[in-house]
Amino acid sequence: MMTEKIKKQIIIQATGIGREYRIGKQVVSVLKNIDLTIYKHDFMTISGASGVGKSTLLHILGLLDEPSEGKIAFQGIEIQSLSNARKAEIRNKSIGFIFQFFHLLPEFSAMENVLLPALMRRNTTPVKELKERSKALLDKVGLSHRMKHKPSELSGGEQQRVAIARAIMNKPDVIFADEPTGNLDSKASLEIQNLLYELNDQTNQTIVIVTHNTELAAIGRRKMHMSDGSIHELE
Ligand SMILES: Nc1ncnc2c1ncn2[C@@H]1O[C@H](COP(=O)(O)OP(=O)(O)OP(=O)(O)O)[C@@H](O)[C@H]1O
Ligand SMILES: [Mg+2]
Repeated sequence: MMTEKIKKQIIIQATGIGREYRIGKQVVSVLKNIDLTIYKHDFMTISGASGVGKSTLLHILGLLDEPSEGKIAFQGIEIQSLSNARKAEIRNKSIGFIFQFFHLLPEFSAMENVLLPALMRRNTTPVKELKERSKALLDKVGLSHRMKHKPSELSGGEQQRVAIARAIMNKPDVIFADEPTGNLDSKASLEIQNLLYELNDQTNQTIVIVTHNTELAAIGRRKMHMSDGSIHELE
């Protein structure tokens, strides 16, 4: 019989990741030689003080930014050798993002915001079907009565639920969340936490959350902590 460990499939392998920022002549080294393996179906939280480099690391893992040193393999593909177009394709197909400030498009309704990533993707699914899916996802996050509302007509918690529906629209393999409850009150935070937990439970989706909120960090099944440009696993 295979053990749990052997069955685990690696989804992201980061090796020797370094990231520095240059401001004039000054070089600030934010990430130093970070190794991190993320497995399929992981529910990972990465905690650490403000300014430690959590967002920087998340952007590198999510292919939004490039490391100064080291390499990322995403589902076995070495990322540094790919063109920007190919990277964007992988991001659109395989990765969903949830941000602290929601980043919804203000001119569009909740339904349209959820639908957009699927329309941007080259695929043959009829628009009618995609619309049905975006409606079903809004229903899943408890917003079936808010489909036509624009972001400014929604509460913070509701906007974040729209952003979650949008993040999962293309059935990504990995969802990255950067302080997803950073702008929400405790009730809305709990709802978002439960929603992320449920998603990870019901699907095979991998979820990586970065936060300086200790309560949110505690819900991870794998808990990582960053300090001084390094990362280590807690417990
Ligand atoms: N574009 C940039 N140019 C220069 N320095 C930057 C840039 N982006 C981030 N930094 C610096 O890198 C460090 C890490 O930033 P990062 O945003 O990753 O921190 P964080 O852990 O996400 O913090 P927070 O919890 O406040 O969101 C900070 O000291 C920041 O000032
Ligand atoms: Mg940050």
